[in-house]
Amino acid sequence: MMTYIQGLPKVELHLHIEGSLEPDLMFELAKRNQVSIPFNSPEEVQAAYQFEDLQSFLDIYYQGANVLINEQDFFDLTWAYLLRCQQDNVIHTEIFFDPQTHTARGIAFDTVINGIDKALQKGREELGISSQIIMCFLRHLDQDSAFETLRQALPYKDKIIGVGLDSSESGHPPEKFQQVFEEAIKHGFLTVAHAGEEGPAENIHNAMKLLGVARVDHGVRCVEDEQLVEQLIQDRTPLTVCPLSNIKLKVFQDMADHNIADLLRRGLCVTINSDDPAYFGGYMTDNFVAVAEALPMTNEELKAFTLNAIEASFISEEEKQRLVAKVDQFCASV
Ligand code: HPA
Ligand code: ZN
Repeated sequence: MMTYIQGLPKVELHLHIEGSLEPDLMFELAKRNQVSIPFNSPEEVQAAYQFEDLQSFLDIYYQGANVLINEQDFFDLTWAYLLRCQQDNVIHTEIFFDPQTHTARGIAFDTVINGIDKALQKGREELGISSQIIMCFLRHLDQDSAFETLRQALPYKDKIIGVGLDSSESGHPPEKFQQVFEEAIKHGFLTVAHAGEEGPAENIHNAMKLLGVARVDHGVRCVEDEQLVEQLIQDRTPLTVCPLSNIKLKVFQDMADHNIADLLRRGLCVTINSDDPAYFGGYMTDNFVAVAEALPMTNEELKAFTLNAIEASFISEEEKQRLVAKVDQFCASV
């Protein structure tokens, strides 16, 4: 099973690049940039990663991002993630970044996007990994700040495929950002949003209705509304599920309790993703293995997660066909 999962070509659709900052790199960048961090060693950082809920994680995650200052730092962060993609046979990835986490500290928008984009370009050329960038608005900040961020992104429209919504779901529902999403859509951006992670199924419904999302990030609480589940099945609206994240943040107590296998078997377009792998204990292969160990699944079902991710990705039909062929070729060879 491990060999099959390792070799299976994978597509990642829910990855916060700031959440791929490993403790070793955090230490290296803290030293390089003379930023003080409240830890004495990478091991101490790792030991601090015990979370009670989404907010307790976010507090540590935003603190970690403080070591990212220069374009080279964003390049190094993204390149390290791409090398992990290569190890895990991730052939295409659509990554989130949180501009406001950086611009609020006085880091220029172009420093962030250029560092990320240059690494992704090198990933295409040297590793053969294709990629897209999605910019997320922080939902704990107000809509004016999101509008300002959208304005800053316009010169980089060709590098950013879509906009998303992340951070604290409780108290910050999709409707808070309806106007800025409408504006983003007018400018040609695709939209996604975190919904139904900690918040109710109603947030999933409203993300679809008011924000026009092409995919729902997480979405696991859809099961609380049967009519919504039927709609997700009918429309094939993809859910980017993050199994290890859900356990670490106590969305489910145990992987055996996770609903991802049920959702797949009911015909939803569910996918497996790593979210913030440096914080949640694993990249793509680890997430697939954790699911397959806790919820016995056939190789066909594991393959279906990749095929769903290809279907749900923001690439051309031709490119989708090319990726499907890669998956079929692998499956025929085992
Ligand atoms: N949920 C909300 N916001 C986030 C997450 C998440 O899983 N990861 C990084 N920001
Ligand atoms: Zn996320």
